[in-house]
Amino acid sequence: MASLSLALFTYRFKKDPSVKKSLKIFVKTYGCQMNERDSEMISSQLQCAGHELTDNEKIADVVILNTCSVREQAEIKALGKAGYLVRRKRTNPNFKIGIVGCMAENLGEKLFKLNGAIDFVIGPKRLHELADVLEDHRRSLYIGDPKKQHLPNDFDRKLEKNKCTAFLSIMHGCNMRCSYCVVPRTRGNEQYRPMEDIVEEAKFLAANGIREITLLGQIVNNYGGRLMPMLDDKTPFVQLLERLDRLPGIERIRYMSPHPQNFSDDLILAHKNLSKLCPSVHLPIQSGSNRILAAMKRPYTSEKILTIVEKLRRAVPNVGISTDIIVGYPGETEEDFKETVSLFDTAKFNMAFIFKYSPREGTKSAELIDDVEESEKERRNQILLQRVQEASLRYHQRFLGKTVEVLVEGHARRGADTMFGWTPNHCKVLFKASENDIGKNFPIQIDSSTTTILWGTMAGNAQGRDLLQR
Ligand code: SAH
Ligand code: SF4
Ligand code: F3S
Repeated sequence: MASLSLALFTYRFKKDPSVKKSLKIFVKTYGCQMNERDSEMISSQLQCAGHELTDNEKIADVVILNTCSVREQAEIKALGKAGYLVRRKRTNPNFKIGIVGCMAENLGEKLFKLNGAIDFVIGPKRLHELADVLEDHRRSLYIGDPKKQHLPNDFDRKLEKNKCTAFLSIMHGCNMRCSYCVVPRTRGNEQYRPMEDIVEEAKFLAANGIREITLLGQIVNNYGGRLMPMLDDKTPFVQLLERLDRLPGIERIRYMSPHPQNFSDDLILAHKNLSKLCPSVHLPIQSGSNRILAAMKRPYTSEKILTIVEKLRRAVPNVGISTDIIVGYPGETEEDFKETVSLFDTAKFNMAFIFKYSPREGTKSAELIDDVEESEKERRNQILLQRVQEASLRYHQRFLGKTVEVLVEGHARRGADTMFGWTPNHCKVLFKASENDIGKNFPIQIDSSTTTILWGTMAGNAQGRDLLQR
């Protein structure tokens, strides 16, 4: 656990003239937002090293799969893709396949046995070495060394055109040891980026057209841990939010994911007081049964979840609250499951990701018998999914006929003139607008809704406000 200063944190995009051969590289991303951010970082790094990125896999000299290990299915998917790519090697012996990210760290050398055509394997802690690995013609394995502290990969940032939202990593790794979770194994212990670096990066993003930032961390509200002091009873995370809230150009701040354990009153107050902090919280509960939560080593109860949700709703009316739930954890009875459904209903979450428990080698719960039958996991999954759809629809319906603020993000793939954006409380809205409106904020009147989308029209003679000029 440490706070690191990143001397290399420049955001500049420079081409290195010493590069010998420029390769066409295709990067495919699996998994969570951390991986998306890592893929952006890899892409900038490779361009800095003189390579070219392509979105056409078929013409690539190198395909890099940035993988996830959180559930078995995620690994199976990426391994299947790597297996499919092997045939390219038969026609082009110079073609390279790289596995990077969490599965690289998790399976390490085993990957070469599973697929003899893989050229390199690089874990998340060593992704900053990727450009060098490409120069190497031997098969390479670069995973974390437990005795060393590896630098997180936050330097060199190049932004795509027409983008107004961005992820911003504030920390790496996780100190929790939830019994089912592989993430501490793949990403190591918590490391916090210095607050100054994060604020500088946010300024850079604002100056380059970014209007909405999402702060990323496995447990964002642990930011700073015991290494950064409390100030005026405020946690380092809230201190950071306050500083970002004052930055001109940045209009919206989101974060994910917080942990219920440290969801303190200063954070709830921040939602009330900071005008740019969006009224939307993703609060993973995993289960509503206190018995299962204890078995999972999640140090809170369903009562604590209800208290947080109540306080948030009191502080921020219309706040959107979503969650993650695992069904079929070893020993989960029908009674436990009913308690989860009951907590989901009582807390009135408006969205949730439901996962069927998947034992992960090396975790504590993998030592237990995975005793909930697949068909039973699926039944519980379906029951909750039905609840989630009803809850999303109900939440969406409260906006019918109302005017909401939408930040236009891009084309909605429903015809050239249909654009999409999100409300502050994280509802996706589709409406007629043009590409010139990207990055602007419009009042949109909501005409209809589905479980996943709100449809709307620009309200009155609304002119898009370029938020930079506000
Ligand atoms: N740091 C976040 C979670 C990151 S993993 C947190 O603690 O909230 C994203 C989600 O994957 C978790 O919230 C959990 O619901 C799910 N997940 C993790 N391990 C899993 C496993 N072994 N089986 C099924 N779902 C899992
Ligand atoms: Fe995994 Fe738990 Fe850490 Fe989240 S808090 S990343 S679920 S160990
Ligand atoms: Fe994310 Fe999957 Fe790794 S959820 S942290 S990419 S194991």
